[in-house]
Amino acid sequence: MKNHDIVEKNIGLMVVLVIVAISFGSLVEIVPQFFLPQTSEPVENLKPLAAVELEGRDIYIREGCHVCHTQMVRPLRAEVERYGHYSVAGESVYEHPFLWGSKRTGPDLARVGQRYSDTWHKAHLYNPRNVVPESNMPAFPWLFDAKLDGKYTAKKMEALRKVGVPYTDEDIAGAQEAVKGVTEIDALVAYLQQLGLLFTHKR
Ligand code: HEC
Repeated sequence: MKNHDIVEKNIGLMVVLVIVAISFGSLVEIVPQFFLPQTSEPVENLKPLAAVELEGRDIYIREGCHVCHTQMVRPLRAEVERYGHYSVAGESVYEHPFLWGSKRTGPDLARVGQRYSDTWHKAHLYNPRNVVPESNMPAFPWLFDAKLDGKYTAKKMEALRKVGVPYTDEDIAGAQEAVKGVTEIDALVAYLQQLGLLFTHKR
């Protein structure tokens, strides 16, 4: 009996060999990415989020914004013309977890920073229909009342520092003070307004 027949007639062995082949193929594709500077090093001038922006990002996650909005401009002409420079891996090295998303009920937000005024964002988040009559985005009026106390901001920064985000001791020491009393809407808008600035040349 040829070797090939042994594999074809023994389903258990075949499953194992298929798994080995696929795993090997995946490793060859994935592992080098961890060592390439383009995928593992921050782009020039990348800074960790300020305390208020970091809290804004958590509100963005809590409210599920990433479920309708991607932050990943693909290198396709239509996308680059609409949103701006395509996303690169080095922008995301301080992102834990990343918010690339996979569903675009609304537009991509990777380059939305400074595209609208703070006032526009607030009117929009209070009720999207106020500024975009045909919008089906939900309203988030409660963000205008809730205030942050900054109790966990320093802890969040310490945790991020453990996974490589270069927060300084001063950043961490001043975190609660910077965040305390800020409304959730202000934190969220601060987060939105810095998205993609390194690539839209507005910073
Ligand atoms: C159910 C899906 C959905 C959710 C959840 C959602 N959005 Fe939207 N968003 C949309 C749609 C659709 C539009 C396009 C219409 C409009 O501008 O309102 C939009 C538009 C936007 C825009 C304008 C983008 C541009 O380039 O014009 C911003 C900014 C935005 N959303 C932020 C947010 C934030 C922040 C959250 C979370 C608090 C959020 N969205 C949650 C669907 C959603």
